[in-house]
Amino acid sequence: MELQGKRIVLGVTGGIAAYKAAELVRLLGKQGADVQVAMTEGATHFVTATTFQALSGKPVYLDQWDARMPNAMAHIDLSRQADLILVAPASADFMARIANGLADDLLATMVLARTCPLMLAPAMNRQMWENSATQRNVATLAEDGVALIGPACGEQACGEVGAGRMLEPEEILEEVITFFAPKVLSGKKVLITAGPTFEAIDPVRGITNLSSGRMGYALARAAQHTGADVTLVSGPVALPVPAGVCRVPVRSALEMHEAVMQAAGQADVFIAVAAVADYRVANAADHKLKKDHGGVPAIELVENPDILADVASLPAAPFCVGFAAESQNLEAYAQAKRQKKKVPLIAGNLIQDGFGGDDNRITLFDDQGAHPLVPAPKYVLARQLIEHIAKLTGNR
Ligand code: PMT
Repeated sequence: MELQGKRIVLGVTGGIAAYKAAELVRLLGKQGADVQVAMTEGATHFVTATTFQALSGKPVYLDQWDARMPNAMAHIDLSRQADLILVAPASADFMARIANGLADDLLATMVLARTCPLMLAPAMNRQMWENSATQRNVATLAEDGVALIGPACGEQACGEVGAGRMLEPEEILEEVITFFAPKVLSGKKVLITAGPTFEAIDPVRGITNLSSGRMGYALARAAQHTGADVTLVSGPVALPVPAGVCRVPVRSALEMHEAVMQAAGQADVFIAVAAVADYRVANAADHKLKKDHGGVPAIELVENPDILADVASLPAAPFCVGFAAESQNLEAYAQAKRQKKKVPLIAGNLIQDGFGGDDNRITLFDDQGAHPLVPAPKYVLARQLIEHIAKLTGNR
């Protein structure tokens, strides 16, 4: 629940993307936001108020003279209760009106009367977006401190291709979560490893492990939300790149080591979440091993470099955070790893809790001792770990 208790007025204006606002209401609600929908008259030609009412569980506001507001001041009451007014889709006409301070319907009046931030997700035909009048309005709105998210490029409902498409509901949700996250890592460069490594035996076979990358990707997302500039060195996983994060894909531990050592010099914080193979195959074959040739193949292993220990021993090392996945004796083993790799903070998890799923159970170990976190989805734990890192690095 990343938006628990946040009060969001979702303004919907007239455009074909209005149908996507219905999904946005659902996504915002799922993250705990209290969503109040207000529609322009134009929007009601695309989607009915009943759809939004059913999804938000609240009456939808359509005009200034709504008799449900006891003091006939819907624009003041609704906008003063909000933590954010989000208009998605924001049409060219709506942007023009609010850029010029017009208050000719309920939504525009609420925007003018607001005391909270305003975020717009523009959606229009590409020619309308490129028109110099729209671009003047965009510049005015940006100067007024309005947050503009998108538009995206791509195929449009009218069949044309170009800039003007509204961001997808999931992308808008990410922007809203980022907006509310406290910027505890503002301006910091954070380097993260995630996922498994793959150590080739031959061109089609290899040694790997069951890390899904979810914990590392959740950390990359949380660090980005809290203002960091994030580089994610990722082993082979099937996860989308978190918005705003720079992913460096790698396969083997050696590749991961090289990518990390290249970026470590500029990093303020390094978080090693990857489940790196301790050994690689010394005699990897460059052709596929055949079953019927030469009996059972012998696989010789050699040790991989320890990425975390190597970063921690750099002369100007970033603040280093390790992970430890253990099947038993979590505290003893995690603390031993912390000492051996000379890192100030280790997040310990049991393998049955950490590998694979969406949730985890983590205990943080630092100079002050053990800090058990309540079991939770990986993103929630990632945000808590980021908070802990921000506290420990406060004076750096
Ligand atoms: O990806 P998920 O499915 O979400 O699962 C998450 C996780 C269980 C993989 C994650 O939470 C976790 O615990 N990662 C560390 C796995 C581990 O046990 O690593 P380790 O004990 O082998 O290494 C300890 C630390 O040194 C880790 O930070 C590791 O990234 C780092 N290391 C290890 C070996 C090596 N050659 N280089 C390293 O940097």
